[in-house]
Amino acid sequence: MPSGATIWLTGLPSSGKSTLAAATAAHLEERGERTSILDGDEVRRHLSSELGFSAAERHLNVERIGYVASLLTRSGCLTLVAAIAPYRRSRDGVRALHREAGLAYAEVHVATPVAICAERDVKGLYARQRAGELAGLTGVDDPYEEPSAPELTLATQLLTLTECVERIAALAARATTSDAPYPA
Ligand SMILES: Nc1ncnc2c1ncn2[C@@H]1O[C@H](COP(=O)(O)OP(=O)(O)OP(=O)(O)O)[C@@H](O)[C@H]1O
Ligand SMILES: [Mg+2]
Repeated sequence: MPSGATIWLTGLPSSGKSTLAAATAAHLEERGERTSILDGDEVRRHLSSELGFSAAERHLNVERIGYVASLLTRSGCLTLVAAIAPYRRSRDGVRALHREAGLAYAEVHVATPVAICAERDVKGLYARQRAGELAGLTGVDDPYEEPSAPELTLATQLLTLTECVERIAALAARATTSDAPYPA
């Protein structure tokens, strides 16, 4: 079993995925871990720039991220993915890809309630949706299928950033040290 693992942070817009991925990567790098981040926004800019936000395109985007994550993880990286990944089917497909390759994989549900996400509204998407300038916002007028069995659930409205990072880092340590593909 290689030492890498893919940790996928899934959740609504402004739930905290990018913030947590960056903070966790910084924490793990300090401890000497080799990490990579695949952030949804960057992937859409560099790897999926032709894709829109239809169900098929969202699914394809997640498949691409999952494949790249598996390559990074195979090479021994602790790979943190920060991408909404709204559909269970897409996420399960990525998990299966890792399992078939014998690679460690764990899902983190960044389970910030939509009302809190809409207050944070880091990119102004919730405001634009309310103003009728944007349609198809995940969790508002587009589906978000909550994970049914995530390895970790984080209520970020109740936890500090440090507490969240510690929990993700502990999960990563468990994932990379297990003998069998994670979870068994
Ligand atoms: N415990 C916490 N964990 C993570 N983020 C938090 C927490 N508490 C407050 N926040 C704040 O919530 C916001 C989350 O924004 P972030 O860009 O990380 O969301 P995102 O899930 O990546 O959204 P998007 O899908 O639009 O990219 C940040 O402003 C962050 O400071
Ligand atoms: Mg983000």
